[in-house]
Amino acid sequence: MVLPDAGHLGTPLTPGATRVLLLGSGELGKEVAIELQRLGVEVVAADRYADAPAMQVAHRSHVLDMLDPVALRALLDAERPHVVVPEIEAIATQVLADVEASGLRVVPTARATVLTMDREGIRRLAAEDLGLPTSPYRFAGTRHELDAAVAAVGFPCVVKPVMSSSGKGQSVLRGPDDVDTAWAYAQTGGRVAAGTGDGSGDHAARVIVEGFVPFDSEITLLTVRHTGGTTFCDPIGHTQVDGDYRESWQPAALPPGVLERAQEVAATVTDALGGWGVFGVELFVVGDQVLFSEVSPRPHDTGLVTLVSQDLSEFALHARAVLGLPAAPVLRLGAGQGQDAAASCAVLAEGHGVPDVAGVERALAVPTAQVRLFGKPVVSGRRRVAVTLARGADVDEARARATRAAAALDVRLV
Ligand SMILES: Nc1ncnc2c1ncn2[C@@H]1O[C@H](COP(=O)(O)OP(=O)(O)O)[C@@H](O)[C@H]1O
Ligand SMILES: [Mg+2]
Repeated sequence: MVLPDAGHLGTPLTPGATRVLLLGSGELGKEVAIELQRLGVEVVAADRYADAPAMQVAHRSHVLDMLDPVALRALLDAERPHVVVPEIEAIATQVLADVEASGLRVVPTARATVLTMDREGIRRLAAEDLGLPTSPYRFAGTRHELDAAVAAVGFPCVVKPVMSSSGKGQSVLRGPDDVDTAWAYAQTGGRVAAGTGDGSGDHAARVIVEGFVPFDSEITLLTVRHTGGTTFCDPIGHTQVDGDYRESWQPAALPPGVLERAQEVAATVTDALGGWGVFGVELFVVGDQVLFSEVSPRPHDTGLVTLVSQDLSEFALHARAVLGLPAAPVLRLGAGQGQDAAASCAVLAEGHGVPDVAGVERALAVPTAQVRLFGKPVVSGRRRVAVTLARGADVDEARARATRAAAALDVRLV
């Protein structure tokens, strides 16, 4: 289906509807779906399990393995969306390329989804084609190649499966004794299941070895490509534990000149990826240097803070941009009103069962605090089930409030 003219939106559930298909229906997709609903878009949500968060706010939903090209093709034929919005990386990307060639809009582009689903694709683009500064790196497809890669990069270094997210399969290596464990862990933690796991066969999961960057801070620069141009949100600072985000805040304080450099890096990489939508550009700040780390071609989990920090959250910006609408200017909320900063704190649950959240009234008693419960139908392992949000006079106060609100929540799995 070819999109109607930019600026033209139909009515959902009628022949004139503007239809958007979300591939992946987690908590970030849920917020995108809500923003699309507000614009009268017909929203279809897909994921590999039923009752996923975005499905609960969509017009229709489908459960399928999105890595299965036949199933994905059938879904596209049945729903005939105008825009396909991937929310996850594990998608049969060849199907996206095919449908894009037939005129359907894939966000941001089919090529960008291919390049960013694989650490090798985006790293080679950024460092080798675009000449952006990154950590030193090598790739390895066998245990033997890993030795050579680690020798070239040196210790300390980080090993990650090239197909992985949320820190899965990722480890920091301090010395030669850590190599075996890191290889074995990468073989189990990646998105594409490895074969033998001992690396002796042809099916080992490929890894990247990166020099460990002793960064002063890491930031996400939300960068929106839209019909009106490229817009940057204020930088978001964050902390990660086990490769997973725990706290984020906005604006992140940066040394003089670093913001301009960060915006240059973000513009370079997002221009190269092209298309319309929000990108989460992850950067390491070391002194006055900015290193490119990775980029999500979609809203970023650390950007949940924008639900309370901006008049247009990253989800509202994404919804507008993917529809071919202008997504600027972005106004910071609370600025000049003694609430110049905002923060988010992830709420995790671990174990197995259906989340049950107590203490919501205690969390909301924290000044400015807000709570978003994702509505995940079941938790297995360790998963994020909610986020708390707060504002404050400065980042310290906002973080303290968001953390306090999160601590007030008592999540049980029943
Ligand atoms: N080369 C590195 N040096 C130092 N820390 C790193 C490096 N690579 C990753 N990290 C840490 O691990 C986190 C997750 O790594 P990242 O590459 O962003 O993987 P994911 O795709 O799982 O988010 C980063 O946000 C950062 O805190
Ligand atoms: Mg990351």
